[in-house]
Amino acid sequence: MGLAEPGYILLFGRLHPLVLHFPVALLIVAAVLEFLPKITKTNYGNGYNIALWIVLCLGALSAVVAASMGLTLASTGSYGGEMVYWHMRFGLSVAGFSVVAVLLKVFAAEKSSKLLSRLYSVSLIACVFAIFMAGHYGGALTHGSEFLPSAAPEPIASWLRGGETATVKRVSNDHYSTAIKPIIDEHCASCHGVDKQEGGLRFDDPELVLIGGESGLPTIVPGKALSSEMVRRLFLNREDKKAMPPDGRARPADRDLVIIMDWIEAGAPWQGETIGPTPLMADSLSVNAVPASLDALDALDTAGVTYFPMNEDNPLLNVDMSLKAYDNEMIKRLLEPIKNQVSWLNVAGNTLDDDTVELIASFANLTRLSLARTNIDDDKVGAFEGHTTLTSLNLTGNPITLELADEFNSMTSLQTLYIWGTAIEGDDLLRLRDILDGVTVLSGAELIKGPAVASETE
Ligand code: HEC
Repeated sequence: MGLAEPGYILLFGRLHPLVLHFPVALLIVAAVLEFLPKITKTNYGNGYNIALWIVLCLGALSAVVAASMGLTLASTGSYGGEMVYWHMRFGLSVAGFSVVAVLLKVFAAEKSSKLLSRLYSVSLIACVFAIFMAGHYGGALTHGSEFLPSAAPEPIASWLRGGETATVKRVSNDHYSTAIKPIIDEHCASCHGVDKQEGGLRFDDPELVLIGGESGLPTIVPGKALSSEMVRRLFLNREDKKAMPPDGRARPADRDLVIIMDWIEAGAPWQGETIGPTPLMADSLSVNAVPASLDALDALDTAGVTYFPMNEDNPLLNVDMSLKAYDNEMIKRLLEPIKNQVSWLNVAGNTLDDDTVELIASFANLTRLSLARTNIDDDKVGAFEGHTTLTSLNLTGNPITLELADEFNSMTSLQTLYIWGTAIEGDDLLRLRDILDGVTVLSGAELIKGPAVASETE
């Protein structure tokens, strides 16, 4: 499949997209040359007829070559699905009709038969029709079947989708359909979907994604973004051969990367499943169930903060301030007005002062918090003592110590604690794990494991 060894056969197949332009152009020109004298009722002379012969024969020859290349490509590449089926049928028809047209033209000339000459015209027209159809399905294969419809205005768009109206397309408004699917559709689906499965991977069906691709590495590990091959590929250097999307294509926007990682961290819920609120959130929500004010959201937009609702009809927000540097005044000014809505918060990389940490600790619906590399110490973390809603706390890269064990123990909802790059290591780490019964304490090694295994097997 996609991992075939380099060689002449593979090269032959992959020349298909290059070579197919010859028969397309030549055969269409042949048809124009053929019918022009009939339409204008003019005889353009012998030279013209010779040119027509040459163009037609070269067209038929290149059509046969392009079709053989196409068949080779289909057998060495990762193709399947309806688009390929029709592209192949019409592609082979182009080669077939063009060869038949040449033969009919030869016999028609020899026997000066009117019938043969008519049949010749018919096969030439059929050939041109097949070229357009093969081109249509071929384009859909290379760019994804949404390439044209998504750019077209409505009546044309539904016609291109084959009569499917937009209402059939997206009825659900769950987190997957509204936030994740559009990113995958835009950046990945053309190579990992119904029509093409590069690397044996397809994203259109949850079960197939979980089976993964040819590498055997887990594409998505629900709950663990950093162990997911999908995330590793997205973050590889753009020059890396394994980077996704490949060939130097642009990576999804930072905001979209955050959305994908958060989605996987939340257990990668699929279409129809909700990302939240967890029962815990729902409880606290009943006290504070008001959406954030538009002014507050505008301010986030202006400041370039990434945020989005946990799902369509939930006022809770996932807020990420880790992609840019913000000073403490700014953080407080932006977060204060949404203190009842922030449920997931990432302020990694920003140095936080006491006031800011206290403000964050007071948020009523806070369930996941990343304070990675915020220069927060034991004293400041003290603000979270007895916290009742935090399920996940990331303190990596901070000068914190085992002194905090009791504070952690007092956080009644805590399930996951990230503490790599802190002073809690070795024996301290073992003791902390002992003390925090029922809390997953992640210290780094287990998180890098996924990607590290990945590079070994390559
Ligand atoms: C232009 C085509 C193309 C696009 C677009 C593309 N991929 Fe790929 N992808 C490939 C090819 C080819 C392979 C197989 C070679 C390899 O493993 O690098 C592959 C392999 C993969 C694999 C490894 C599968 C396995 O386990 O073997 C993952 C994961 C992946 N892609 C994710 C993505 C994601 C996520 C996106 C969208 C952001 C994406 N790809 C977009 C072509 C593409």
